[in-house]
Amino acid sequence: MTVPPVSPVSPVPPVPPVSPRLDVSLMDGYHSPQLDVEVRLNTNESPEPPPPAFTEALADALGGIAWNRYPDRAAERLRAAIADLHGVDPANVLCANGSNEILQTLLLAYGGPGRRALVWEPTYALHSHIARVVGTEVVTAERGSDFVIDADAALDTLTSVRPSVAFVCSPNNPTGTEESAALVAEMVATAATTGTLMVVDEAYGQFATATALDLVDDDAPVVVSRTFSKTWSLAALRLGYVVAPSWLIDELDKVALPYRLDAVKQAAGLIALDHVGDMEARVARLVGERERIIAALTTLAVQVWPSGANFVLLRPHGPDGSPGDKARGDQVWQALVDRSVLVRNCSGWPRLEGCLRVTVGTRQENDRFLEALADVVGGSGG
Ligand SMILES: Cc1ncc(COP(=O)(O)O)c(C=O)c1O
Repeated sequence: MTVPPVSPVSPVPPVPPVSPRLDVSLMDGYHSPQLDVEVRLNTNESPEPPPPAFTEALADALGGIAWNRYPDRAAERLRAAIADLHGVDPANVLCANGSNEILQTLLLAYGGPGRRALVWEPTYALHSHIARVVGTEVVTAERGSDFVIDADAALDTLTSVRPSVAFVCSPNNPTGTEESAALVAEMVATAATTGTLMVVDEAYGQFATATALDLVDDDAPVVVSRTFSKTWSLAALRLGYVVAPSWLIDELDKVALPYRLDAVKQAAGLIALDHVGDMEARVARLVGERERIIAALTTLAVQVWPSGANFVLLRPHGPDGSPGDKARGDQVWQALVDRSVLVRNCSGWPRLEGCLRVTVGTRQENDRFLEALADVVGGSGG
């Protein structure tokens, strides 16, 4: 047997190592440290589970799932039930795996290279993080000294920056501050002249007094995102949604992955909505506890801000009564951990030097937190 001649092979160029996008390689991921403690008040979860009737009905519903089939791609029944809750059409609702995925979907469609997103800091870190991940330039404006957005400055910023997307978080994480419906309405009116989509993140909406849901209209560039993670006690479910003009939902549908909402999630969301009364009672209890915590904090050596959410921002004074700094915030946070109470340490975040954020827990958990804090910082108020 004759072997055919081998043709000369040109040298193979060296293979470059796989590498992420340069901007991604320079990013910090999103971190939310967890510790093994007795009282966990650091991630704004609900301290109470959903009612037993929810878990029982869900267990029954599992038997009826056609596991070999893809789920309802449009999640029609769930969207209809959410639409019913808010008195809108199902065409005005889109669901996703948590409201973070809603934010991502919005930015995939309305952000991206060559576009700008505007945020008012300090605010929820994921707004700017997801914007950057999808290649959007992030422009940062500042909240006022009380952490509320200043109306005149905000309208000027919108007009000069002309962002494709602007985020308003109300109640704002991590400060707890609420924006008035009047301010958001003014911002939306300006956004209509600057080609800006206003995204109002109402992850904590039911704990607050104001909502932008009434502003959603086919002629207005505003959407409201909400989640089942907090008020519905379903952080484990990963279900969020947006209420938006129907033409905008059509655009979001183009970038959302098909069949992303699994059948269990759709069933669980529907069942949760059968228990609105339980949710409202839980929210009322947590709002009561929030106000009790704030009242107690005013007697301790900390600065405290009003909150429309299920958490409270505070800044321990220095040992000599001076405004607390990062070192003092870190020290108090550690002293709370030493007493098996975990809160969110924001003391290194810009504008929040020395601040801690405590999630409203059960009455017993809140007492544990207040006792531990009193032990560490002492009284004297204000
Ligand atoms: C302001 C805000 N928006 C959105 C989210 C995301 O919620 P989820 O993805 O659980 O719906 C959070 C979670 O903490 C939040 O604080």
